[in-house]
Amino acid sequence: MALINLKDLLTHARKNKYAVGAFNITNLSLVEYLIDAALEERSPIILQVAEVHFRYLNLEEIAPFIISSAKKVNIPVCVHLDHGESLKTIVRAIRSGFTSVMFDGSKYPLEENIKLTKEITRIAHSVGVSVEGEIGYVGGEAIGERAPVAHTPQKELFTKVEEAVRFWQETDVDALAIAIGNVHGFYKGRPELDFERLAQIRDALNIPLVLHGGSGIPDEDFRKAISLGICKINFYTEMSRSAVDRIRQYLSENPEISSFPDVVRKGLEEAKNVVKQRLQVFGSSNVCAPEKTLCITCSKDGCGIEDPRLKPGTKTILYEELVEKISREVISNLLHQKT
Ligand code: 13P
Repeated sequence: MALINLKDLLTHARKNKYAVGAFNITNLSLVEYLIDAALEERSPIILQVAEVHFRYLNLEEIAPFIISSAKKVNIPVCVHLDHGESLKTIVRAIRSGFTSVMFDGSKYPLEENIKLTKEITRIAHSVGVSVEGEIGYVGGEAIGERAPVAHTPQKELFTKVEEAVRFWQETDVDALAIAIGNVHGFYKGRPELDFERLAQIRDALNIPLVLHGGSGIPDEDFRKAISLGICKINFYTEMSRSAVDRIRQYLSENPEISSFPDVVRKGLEEAKNVVKQRLQVFGSSNVCAPEKTLCITCSKDGCGIEDPRLKPGTKTILYEELVEKISREVISNLLHQKT
């Protein structure tokens, strides 16, 4: 048993001062390689699917594969929706068995973001699914065939401490993505994270903080950000580019090659290497070493594959129960709205 929700996972990370890496799945084969990376590092991991990447895969089809892969390993795996844009997508992810969802309302005015996120939190929490919200605006995006354009963060869109406090208090989110100089995709020049602002947000909010746009951030900046309250780090572009670079190199060294799976495997192995390095930098390597008994979902004697039904009080969400639970909650919400 290894499925865990974001709240439980990040509570442990925050207490023990490490961050959990959240890596975007854009291809079925990546799932196995990323889980292997985490297993070899004895690290928890977050496998996330972003709504902008629905062009590459079907949510309902990939979900059972990710979930069954996660259930087979004895490390905590959180299956997370990244940058969900509507209630419909959030409900689709919950119905598919995701243990955590992000609703990104950062493009809306504060009031609207609070209103929408609050509704989503109520629904998700009723079935044990965690919610990540976003306040401030992290620009850029990591999609499309061409290399994503390098971005410079806009200071006026950085997270404001007072707004973050209000957002957190009113929405009851479990984790908060903030903008402190981070951007998605590549950076123009060296990233300049606003650590002072991060420390102020950390002091004002009693909640795990999330750093999007991990690609291109130097290792020492990651370590500093983690020491100041960052507990989840989203990372994708660099993993994708490294995999492509490795394939390019392999093809130039072996121009006669014609085996498609072997070419793809080179890229996947490179993605796995990059992820292993990130887990080390994020401080989550060896968190799950059995001798340390820090594995969040397993007791000292119970580390390994377990049936959660045999373990009372477990926080694991049973996929089979989720569809029923969320359907009932949504119907009751609709009935309530009508009266
Ligand atoms: P990068 O692609 O810049 O690493 O960011 C990933 C991300 O934040 C996904 O939400």
